[in-house]
Amino acid sequence: MSARPDDFVHVFEPATRAGEWTVLLLHGTGGDEHDLLPLGRVVAPGAALLSPRGRVLEHGQARFFARLAEGVFDRDDLARRSGELADWLEACAARYDFDPGRVGAIGYSNGANIAWSVMFARPRVLARAVLMRPMLPFEPEGHPDLTACAALVLRGERDPIVPAASAAALVATLQRAGADVTAHVTPAGHELVRADVARAAGWWAARDAAPTRSDGGDDPVL
Ligand code: MLT
Repeated sequence: MSARPDDFVHVFEPATRAGEWTVLLLHGTGGDEHDLLPLGRVVAPGAALLSPRGRVLEHGQARFFARLAEGVFDRDDLARRSGELADWLEACAARYDFDPGRVGAIGYSNGANIAWSVMFARPRVLARAVLMRPMLPFEPEGHPDLTACAALVLRGERDPIVPAASAAALVATLQRAGADVTAHVTPAGHELVRADVARAAGWWAARDAAPTRSDGGDDPVL
């Protein structure tokens, strides 16, 4: 059965400027479609915002895919849900009349993890992604071509949930796939702080101003 916009409870806010990006906002575990709207408005002012609520419930808390334990993903479910989200995005582009070639994601924690998974599963669906507190706890299959994609990876220095090696593995994997990756360590834990918002907004604006490849970030070690 083909995807329909109503498959996900969601909010869509149209762009307030012509030719703007559409930003897919992906909340963390226990969040909902309203959580990241203020963040989206600050990071990508003028862009259309599309914010779905994850359809997996873990003890009543919404997520975008199932996990077996903290940091242990249900990989079959992740693959299936990533395909569903990509199909849904396509259905939304038709309904809301946005350019499917100018869609970026901003994801936090579980939302960041489904965002990179969508990038790997369907390399053309997300041209840019702000990945806040993501992790890559396994070696993904396949060799996607992400040379047309850009990603900002924001790890928390004292994050008790995301091991540094897991964030570094994601950066390395995105780079191997050809993505233009900027990585930064924020002096924070798993929670988002103002510095993350500022960093994300600066990165987004810089890419709009001069969409050339970046230097890979200012942190020698992620
Ligand atoms: C979370 O809090 O959701 C985890 O850190 C990340 C995940 O399970 O995707």
